[in-house]
Amino acid sequence: MEFAGTIELVRSVVKAVKIAGKRVGLVPTMGALHAGHISLIKRAVKDCHFVVVSIFVNPTQFGAGEDFENYPRPIEADLEICEKAGADLVFNPSAEVMYGGEGLTWITVEKLTEPLCGRSRPGHFRGVATICAKLFNIVQPDVAYFGQKDAQQAIVIRRMVADLDMPLEVVVCPTVREPDGLALSSRNKYLSVEQRREAAKIYKSLAKCKEMREAGVTDAKQIIAAMREILRQIAGGQIEYVEIVDAETLEQVNEIKGSILGAVAVRLGPARLIDNILL
Ligand code: PAF
Repeated sequence: MEFAGTIELVRSVVKAVKIAGKRVGLVPTMGALHAGHISLIKRAVKDCHFVVVSIFVNPTQFGAGEDFENYPRPIEADLEICEKAGADLVFNPSAEVMYGGEGLTWITVEKLTEPLCGRSRPGHFRGVATICAKLFNIVQPDVAYFGQKDAQQAIVIRRMVADLDMPLEVVVCPTVREPDGLALSSRNKYLSVEQRREAAKIYKSLAKCKEMREAGVTDAKQIIAAMREILRQIAGGQIEYVEIVDAETLEQVNEIKGSILGAVAVRLGPARLIDNILL
């Protein structure tokens, strides 16, 4: 596995790979890799001849008072994980490399970034879209891989790629869960043993959403109320949102007909946990 800290090196390695006619996959990450990331890397290895994993804790997607400083950065362990999972190149730039100049250009995806996480994290998706556009321009992958756990992020990136005619495919892979249902997240590390146990109720609320939908309930308010009931039982938890939205437009749905996303965000101790179910 190769390692690059500069844009020039990534470009020259990928250029040679592309000249050889190989398909290039990119897995963008902020490191602190877990089984969810491993599943993305493995999927990329399956689909592509050459897999780049980027590891960069992107400052522009964190708001004031969020966990940018404390975000885990176990780079040695991450490199080992990438190598084992079959990555060919890790791109681990510094903030200076990615944002050295006075950046005056930002990417704002409208509408889709306003609901759900957009309400409490203004500017977050602008930072995500901009860093992903930069990574796409640097690596020039044929395919980029994202997790369903960050459903709104995946929808925003897909839309940016479509609207700006970026020549790549976006693949969204299923959420990887702990045996009790908790979605894997680098932020689960922030939870105490007790909070970790309580956090499993987040998935219980999503399972309830699925169960009610499958039983034929179409009134979103009724399902949300049942989900809230479960989430209220999380000791020390604070519900940020529980919503049922259209899976493409992210607009709130009253009467469920087509594809929907049941989405929740809960603050629990130092962690803000999000999860969703696509139905
Ligand atoms: O999902 C993440 O880890 C980040 O938001 C991403 C896509 C790597 C952009 O910094």
